[in-house]
Amino acid sequence: MQQFHTVYGGAVVEVVRDLQRARQAVLTARAAGKRVGFVPTMGALHEGHLSLIRRARRECSFVVVSIFVNPTQFGPNEDLDRYPRPFQRDVQLCAREGVDLVFAPSPEAMYPAGYSTYVDVEGITERYEGACRPGHFRGVATVVTKLFHIIPADVAYFGQKDAQQLAVIRRMVADLNFPLEIVACDTVRDPDGLAVSSRNVYLDPQQRRSALGLSRALFEARRRFQAGERSREALGTLMRRIMEQSGIAVDYADVVDPESFEPVDPATEQALLIVAGRVGQTRLIDNLPLWTPPPEPTH
Ligand code: PAJ
Repeated sequence: MQQFHTVYGGAVVEVVRDLQRARQAVLTARAAGKRVGFVPTMGALHEGHLSLIRRARRECSFVVVSIFVNPTQFGPNEDLDRYPRPFQRDVQLCAREGVDLVFAPSPEAMYPAGYSTYVDVEGITERYEGACRPGHFRGVATVVTKLFHIIPADVAYFGQKDAQQLAVIRRMVADLNFPLEIVACDTVRDPDGLAVSSRNVYLDPQQRRSALGLSRALFEARRRFQAGERSREALGTLMRRIMEQSGIAVDYADVVDPESFEPVDPATEQALLIVAGRVGQTRLIDNLPLWTPPPEPTH
């Protein structure tokens, strides 16, 4: 099944659901000498996704976006069923951004009856997000492996927003010799500091104010680090206190190595501040590197 969508003065994007056809389209582009950039997503596209797509558009001559809400990375009590799926809007955004191909497979095509193969990245997946969401990174590593085989790109773009996911994928690509380059893109934030996320649509106005506690905690801890604080314990406690005061149920707040996700103590310029917590039913994560101060938001 193949469809075409036309929006904005004739911008056309090809939408492909079939795995073989998607792979063939990418192989054809590569055979024509094109550099293929790939942006894997779960849809509900926002400025964060668009920043990845724009970077791919700048650096590549053929851009593929996948839209697939991957069931294997959701836990039994997570939001798989209510995850937003504004598919037509997503396709229009892709057309507007000049994407060449949208790959949108069905769950049945990705995981047919009898499916039984999974990719486990050890160590790094056991901590933080891995500990809070058992099986999550197994689902991510598995679907990204499948996507990399179906879409044989030269380069794939991932957001720093999901820093542990990025580290897991970098580890997996190195360990399993995937022949592609991984590019990390900075976190896009709303003007008040909240990291843009598909899950922000779950927040009512009061919860959205609470959610600002994540970025406030990160930026405050980084200010404290710049003022000379090096203790992991002190920085973690500061971040936890700010999040709790905002009404966030804290899952973790720590200082880690961005590759291994091992705690770093004392904190160094190479380390990453990471936070996660729940606002009502909605689970949010965020992080901030200690090494390159991006522009500060106005809280
Ligand atoms: P999804 O949450 O849709 O995110 C797709 C990509 O967008 C990821 O690389 C994520 O890090 C990036 N992204 C999300 N919010 C961002 C922000 N505020 N700034 C910059 N980049 C941002 O991550 C997934 O989907 C899935 O796990 C996937 C990799 C597609 C596998 O199913």
